[in-house]
Amino acid sequence: MTSIVVSSQKGGVGKTTVSINLAFAFARAGWNVLLVDSDPQGSVGLSLTRQSRKLLGFFDYIGDEKQRFDKLVVPTRMNTLSMIPAGQGEGYELGGGYDESVADRVKNFLGDVESRGYDICIMDSAAGLFGITRDVLVSADAVLVPQQAEPLGIRSVPKMLQGLTELRANNTKLSILGVLLTMVQRELEESAEAADGLRELLPAQLVMKQEVTRDGLFLKASSKGVPVGVLQGSARLLNTFDDLRLEIESKLGISQKLK
Ligand SMILES: Nc1ncnc2c1ncn2[C@@H]1O[C@H](COP(=O)(O)OP(=O)(O)O)[C@@H](O)[C@H]1O
Ligand SMILES: [Mg+2]
Repeated sequence: MTSIVVSSQKGGVGKTTVSINLAFAFARAGWNVLLVDSDPQGSVGLSLTRQSRKLLGFFDYIGDEKQRFDKLVVPTRMNTLSMIPAGQGEGYELGGGYDESVADRVKNFLGDVESRGYDICIMDSAAGLFGITRDVLVSADAVLVPQQAEPLGIRSVPKMLQGLTELRANNTKLSILGVLLTMVQRELEESAEAADGLRELLPAQLVMKQEVTRDGLFLKASSKGVPVGVLQGSARLLNTFDDLRLEIESKLGISQKLK
């Protein structure tokens, strides 16, 4: 099992969008995928299941060592894609009712993901490298860093990568997949300059070759609660996420056995 955290310094850069659509791409390729929402604001759940506000989820597991993993898993229409919403998390927020540290609970959680036979666990996260996101990163295998292609946003990226590099002291197996440029508008000078500027600034292996363009279909998809790939006219975006999946598979040295 390979766990991939989608993490960024700031909110609104496309983490949730990337998590959902990347999970969908892995699932379409035949991997057995679990999409987990580790953002207490719970946006994966909100966009994929309407009733998720009432469902138990990740934070209920973190906050209560008696919470059973299997009760949290929500199936989707695809048999290779399941999800765990953020949940209620009262135990977690109150910080009471359990002895183990949060980091240990996250380790147990990923152990359960592995033992249930999932191949890939995509974890959406809250912005920043502290709190629960830090605990998740300390146990994960890989991290992908979406970044909006706009001049001001790009500046915080080296610091974020520095933070991730320092975090590797606590998790030597953590693979930094790199920055994924999102909401790229190549036809807009400022956006293209920001994207190219980042590629010049960072070593090539720290920026994903694939870029996600800005497209109104993403907004449509999140309001309908579906991955963008199921909408009419999304063939190009479906390709983007397929190519991104291939790029990640190649970086991680994993490949799907032909079925
Ligand atoms: N490539 C994109 N093109 C257009 N809109 C996007 C794109 N990616 C995300 N969005 C929209 O931008 C907003 C923020 O994206 P989201 O994935 O929720 O970011 P985060 O999880 O980092 O806060 C959402 O309304 C989403 O629909
Ligand atoms: Mg989000």
